Amino acid sequence: MEKKASLVVLISGSGSNLLAIIDAIKNKQLNAEIKTVISNQVTAKGLDHAIRENITTHVVDHKQYPTREMFDQAMIKIIDPLKPDLVVLAGFMRILSKNFIEKYQHRLINIHPSLLPKYKGLNTHQLAIDNNDEVHGASVHYVNFELDSGPVVIQAEVPVLATDNAEALAARVLHEEHKIYPMAIQMHINGRIRFDNDQLKFDNKTLTRPLLWKNNKLTR
Ligand code: GRF
Repeated sequence: MEKKASLVVLISGSGSNLLAIIDAIKNKQLNAEIKTVISNQVTAKGLDHAIRENITTHVVDHKQYPTREMFDQAMIKIIDPLKPDLVVLAGFMRILSKNFIEKYQHRLINIHPSLLPKYKGLNTHQLAIDNNDEVHGASVHYVNFELDSGPVVIQAEVPVLATDNAEALAARVLHEEHKIYPMAIQMHINGRIRFDNDQLKFDNKTLTRPLLWKNNKLTR
């Protein structure tokens, strides 16, 4: 069995994606080990998932740091000695500094609840409803210097129903997030997804558009 990849997971809230990653590791869908979970919120429920699994946790409260750079530096101090193969943003609600992104470039991944490039930022589910979109979803992407703009690996698509409100739609999207995030992480780990300079390759071919997860199937 190949060496396990090491992950550091950053959270701010409920940590359901963190839990999906923990479960995928347990089910051997993910050949990885979570070295630590860092939360910027002391009350983040997601910390409980980590503690229950005996994963080391850290709270780095952004309010204690005068600048974004100093907050990021405090996280770097924890992350760097662990030499992670991948830094996983799982509902981490802080914008990262240039220095942080540069340091972990090409091994910094995020999940965003929209079909990027649509609806960067917040309130994505309400926006999809307000705009009468027929489909909505989530995107796993590598992080670059612009918010929610890095190269997208996989998108999950769900229909928007006439009866949907933002909560119902969010729940349906989240359910798919829990499938595509571990999937994308495993593809990074086993090298099916990799960077060739700044270009994303999937199975050694340039990925011109994201992989699509729809109706429980992944297509290219
Ligand atoms: C998810 O919708 C994710 O796409 C977004 O924040 C939410 C986090 O949920 N970035 P959880 O904390 O993983 O439950």
